Amino acid sequence: MRDIRTAPFVEEMRKTTVNMYRLGWDERNGGNISYMLNEYEVAEYLDLQKVIRRIPIGFEAKPLIGKIIIVTGTGKYFKNVADDPETNLGIIRIAADGCTAELLWGYKDGGKFTSELPAHLMSHMARLSVNPENRVVMHCHPTYTLAMNYVHELDEKKFTHTLWEMCTECIVVFPDGVGVLPWMLCGTNSIGEATAEKMKEFRLVVWGMHGIYGAGKDMDETFGLIETVEKAAQIYMLTAHLPRINTIKDTEMVELAEFFGVDYRKDFLNL
Ligand code: 13P
Ligand code: ZN
Repeated sequence: MRDIRTAPFVEEMRKTTVNMYRLGWDERNGGNISYMLNEYEVAEYLDLQKVIRRIPIGFEAKPLIGKIIIVTGTGKYFKNVADDPETNLGIIRIAADGCTAELLWGYKDGGKFTSELPAHLMSHMARLSVNPENRVVMHCHPTYTLAMNYVHELDEKKFTHTLWEMCTECIVVFPDGVGVLPWMLCGTNSIGEATAEKMKEFRLVVWGMHGIYGAGKDMDETFGLIETVEKAAQIYMLTAHLPRINTIKDTEMVELAEFFGVDYRKDFLNL
């Protein structure tokens, strides 16, 4: 059996959490990541018959039965993941009842998966129903995106449109736009259900006055989506209080979307 600390998926979790922490997206224990793994990848490093603990997940995730997921731990700091992945991360498998997580590795200090597991697993289910390649769900508290929540209407058409105006690449990177939820109590099944509903339509969902969720087929795609929103929000926050002299016009966004061949939310433009 190979040493799991050298596994590429553990390495990806370490690198991504370091990046997110350094960008200021994940203060203290803020943020969480779940990354669905292939059984054959994990079998090289772990005996899949050996379950360390069984932890109830508090809802039913039947479509994910048998799926193996590496997930950040609740209360754990992203800044500490790289030095001690076995305490700050865990690898779980959804048991045959669909309501229990079988711990295969990690949470060494007796901890457990993120309190946002409902939003993560429900989002995985929602994304997989529209894109079978989806593997990553990521949540964080990026500074400018969050700041924008306080000064911009939390309306998904208006919010997306403003972001699209802020950087030329935006409409190409997230042509499907950004879903927006109002402030809701986090860590609950309800916010998980609301997030998953949005995830059927969007790969990005803003949690009003809290943060953002991204979903994608790999770590780069997911990170890149959030990074692009955050960059656009930064430009917005640096300019919102100044007279706007120039902007990217809706007709130019259409030009971009057509040139790059992306299927964009036409109803989010004002043509
Ligand atoms: P966890 O520490 O449980 O992952 O929660 C962090 C967070 O961002 C809650 O929304
Ligand atoms: Zn959060």
